[in-house]
Amino acid sequence: MRVILNGRKASKGYAMPVSRKHGLWLQSEPIRSFLLPVMQTLTVDLGDRSYPIHIGSGLLDQPGLIVPHLAQPRVAVVTNTTVAPLYLDRLITALTGAGVTVQPIVLPDGEAYKNWETLNRIFDALLGSRAERKTTLVALGGGVIGDMTGFAAASYQRGVPFIQIPTTLLSQVDSSVGGKTGINHPLGKNMIGAFYQPKVVLADTDTLKTLPPRELSAGLAEIIKYGLIWDAEFLAWLEAHMGELRALDAAAITYAIHRSCEIKAQVVSEDEREGGIRAILNLGHTFGHAIETGMGYGNWLHGEAVGAGMVMAAEASQRMGWLSAAEVTRTRALIRAAGLPDVAPDLGAETWLEYMGHDKKVESGKLRFVLLKKLGAAVITGDVPASTLRDTLTACVTNGASS
Ligand SMILES: NC(=O)c1ccc[n+]([C@@H]2O[C@H](COP(=O)([O-])OP(=O)(O)OC[C@H]3O[C@@H](n4cnc5c(N)ncnc54)[C@H](O)[C@@H]3O)[C@@H](O)[C@H]2O)c1
Ligand SMILES: [Zn+2]
Repeated sequence: MRVILNGRKASKGYAMPVSRKHGLWLQSEPIRSFLLPVMQTLTVDLGDRSYPIHIGSGLLDQPGLIVPHLAQPRVAVVTNTTVAPLYLDRLITALTGAGVTVQPIVLPDGEAYKNWETLNRIFDALLGSRAERKTTLVALGGGVIGDMTGFAAASYQRGVPFIQIPTTLLSQVDSSVGGKTGINHPLGKNMIGAFYQPKVVLADTDTLKTLPPRELSAGLAEIIKYGLIWDAEFLAWLEAHMGELRALDAAAITYAIHRSCEIKAQVVSEDEREGGIRAILNLGHTFGHAIETGMGYGNWLHGEAVGAGMVMAAEASQRMGWLSAAEVTRTRALIRAAGLPDVAPDLGAETWLEYMGHDKKVESGKLRFVLLKKLGAAVITGDVPASTLRDTLTACVTNGASS
């Protein structure tokens, strides 16, 4: 297992993320031309399904990053009614200029549409235009579009090539890495899907400029998660640079996305199908899913719920004797600095336990938690005493307040 990274040393003196203890193999190789903006690239190493992730500004206008991955000069771009007016024309112009035929498929926007009916609209459009097995599906949008398009690609004609152009921070650091695709079922979120890897991922940081601030903060929650579970140095870097990240400073946001993808890629390449270590990516999510369910989907963004959930995980870790009070305070402060709620709503202890029990991380009836042994190191445990859990809930929640 290894993660290969090609990139320039980030500007402003940001150190390249070298982490020998995790076996990263880094290659510092600037990819520059005086016309192209600076871009960083890392490769997710999954044998013959390995693929590059390009991160940088202006990538939407560079068909050269896409064309070499096409099996035929024909793509279907799946996007939604929010993203299409912002970025679809630019992508179509770039691709058609490179001789690629583009079929746009514009879906309604929202998690509520991540379902069979909308998936079928993709199949209807593909079959209607006689899209072939070599036609590539391109996802242009956030995680909802990425997950649905990936699943459509995994199943249309038993699998067609797939490219991700994630346009939210969350999708750039999380959902576009790792190959999980799928849709929701009325009885459960992400319950129908497939593992399916893209040919290439383009994370164009310019697209983040149109993202609502709450969505940006929600993406920052997942970035903080990577620091907490894997890399204390990155966590300290995030503490020092949160202001620049929220202001979308180009060098800072590129570095943060890069390091996040690198950590996720490393975890995923060790455990693609979540048999073990991949579960550490769920830090804060057992608590977070209970908040999402308890408050009704859409009222708290996923990242907001995970933000408060990670504070709860830190509190529980302190009660397990692993984190100090000062470390919990640091965690809480970083969550707040990212514009995220650090206090969970009071669902009532019984409701909390019930909703956490519904979480996918339940193994044979036992609640398993991702907690922190220290800042930068996660542990998966089924041994959190009920009293510890109740104390954590009591300490962390408030009457419906979100911060
Ligand atoms: N596959 C995985 O491993 C994985 C991991 C995490 C989350 N997910 C999934 O991802 C989804 C959440 O993704 P998300 O947070 O990106 O939500 P999303 O796709 O709903 O996007 C959030 C909102 O931002 C809009 N938007 C997207 N790009 C924009 C831009 N550049 N400017 C302005 N608005 C823009 C979207 O249209 C939407 O209204 C969930 O369905 C979740 O289950 C999947
Ligand atoms: Zn998440």
